Amino acid sequence: GAAELGPYRHYMQKEIFEQARALGDTLEGITNIMPELFGDKAYRVFKDIDNVLILACGTSYYAGMTAKYWIESIAKISVNVEIASEYRYRDSVPNPKSLVVTISQSGETADTLAALKHARELGMPHSLTICNVSTSAMVRECELAYITRAGVEVGVASTKAFTTQLAALFLLALTLAQSKGRLSETEEQDHIKDLRHLPVAITAVLALEPQIIAWADEFARKENALFLGRGLHYPIALEGALKLKEISYIHAEAYPAGELKHGPLALVTKDMPVVTVAPNDTLIEKLKSNMQEVRARGGELYVFADADSRITPSEGVHVIRLPEHYGMLSPILHTVPLQLLAYHTALARGTDVDKPRNLAKSVTVE
Ligand code: G6P
Repeated sequence: GAAELGPYRHYMQKEIFEQARALGDTLEGITNIMPELFGDKAYRVFKDIDNVLILACGTSYYAGMTAKYWIESIAKISVNVEIASEYRYRDSVPNPKSLVVTISQSGETADTLAALKHARELGMPHSLTICNVSTSAMVRECELAYITRAGVEVGVASTKAFTTQLAALFLLALTLAQSKGRLSETEEQDHIKDLRHLPVAITAVLALEPQIIAWADEFARKENALFLGRGLHYPIALEGALKLKEISYIHAEAYPAGELKHGPLALVTKDMPVVTVAPNDTLIEKLKSNMQEVRARGGELYVFADADSRITPSEGVHVIRLPEHYGMLSPILHTVPLQLLAYHTALARGTDVDKPRNLAKSVTVE
């Protein structure tokens, strides 16, 4: 009811603004990396596995795509990420030493539960879930679990569940690295420090809301949008496009920026806003030349840049600067402005933000 909403107009907006609290709760009390964070048997299981198979749907699948970058980079363990509804129906080659990781806000998604069962039947006994509901079927079915503490999520478009999943998956990457002897104590402490900084960092990003509202008023008049990201921000671009589609009904697509020339450039005109996730990482120079390609075709760029990146506003290039550069955790921070952009665009278009047409919060049937 209205009382629960407090100063917010919708649950989605409330849930976006709860993310500092949700991340703080999800990471509460963590001062060291240890397998037991994931369950009693985790020590033995993590020693035993040599591969990770991630199964999920929707927004949770994009969290899985981000986790692949982290786990392969930090723990040096190969990761496959599969859409649950596809995995369960295709022939695949099982690796008995895989850790099957399901990611689910609800813990009740039928396709993800079925994919987990399928993996087990193929001979992969080790399973872990990153889940927001401790009493769910998913938690009961998995050998190991990490419970995110996002709290109840009402808005159909997932927000705080996603960023807390990412935090939990980053912890998993660190823990797997430690289990394989690939995490020094200094690295461990540096990463933990960064994790503990997340609530403060996210609060500062949320303060960008007024600037994002100005952009949303322009987006509300568009029928198409393109989202670009590279590396571990490609899944974040996908999530940004999904949010916009789900609640504003604007057609949006995401591409890894290097793929522009292989198709989507044909769509770029002055009527095509191109949202660019531009953290100041090793790919920034490549990304800048991708942005040039868009400008050369008259596309309007809307860039979320980091504090220290030398991307400046110019004709057709709008820039909102995030307060810091966030290193490995950057995907978590870069998600927030995309959530706000989708939210305010939907608000301007007058759609039913918390209950978008044709969608359900939890899909418990196939
Ligand atoms: C539905 C929801 C999405 C969610 C997906 C997976 O489609 O609308 O927000 O990402 O299901 O749900 P899960 O509970 O398994 O994360």
